[in-house]
Amino acid sequence: MNDVTKPFISDVKTLRDRARQHLADGAITPTYVGDVAKTIEILQSVLATEIVCVLRYTQHAISAAGIASEPVKAEFLEHAHEEQEHMNAVAERIAQLGGKPNFNPEGLATRSASQYSQPDDLVEMIKENLVAERIAVQHYQELIRYFGDDDPTTRAMLEGILSVEEEHANDMSDLLASRVQK
Ligand SMILES: [Fe+2]
Ligand SMILES: [Fe+2]
Repeated sequence: MNDVTKPFISDVKTLRDRARQHLADGAITPTYVGDVAKTIEILQSVLATEIVCVLRYTQHAISAAGIASEPVKAEFLEHAHEEQEHMNAVAERIAQLGGKPNFNPEGLATRSASQYSQPDDLVEMIKENLVAERIAVQHYQELIRYFGDDDPTTRAMLEGILSVEEEHANDMSDLLASRVQK
């Protein structure tokens, strides 16, 4: 079903590609009418994205310790905890809507918009996290527009998450600047 008033949601590849370029605004084009099943499907992808973020930040926090960088490790760890809060909130919302939150590791990386990576280099870790945050920011901005007034609860949850992702992106950007200057 098509509804010209609804904004478009990009596929994972588009989101990934775009996040690696300079693009501030999400592409908004007409697509389909939202419904509960569709909302659950979208939130499963959001859930996978948050799980991947928990895994990536946790891995980086532990690996960064080995390359002597306590402040960066602390930042990664804090983000890991916040991503876990997002993960829980999204899973709760899926359950509220009558869905079964999908925590299955099988296919996780495909369902997720953000990517898992575990570079050895600290600057590369920061960069990968910045990319992931930029993906999340775009994705959630689009979803907030998509949900509009159709599902204010889901929208409000995503707005709360978005503001934290923007802080995360900013933190990574600051860390990157401080590392690159050295
Ligand atoms: Fe998150
Ligand atoms: Fe984040």
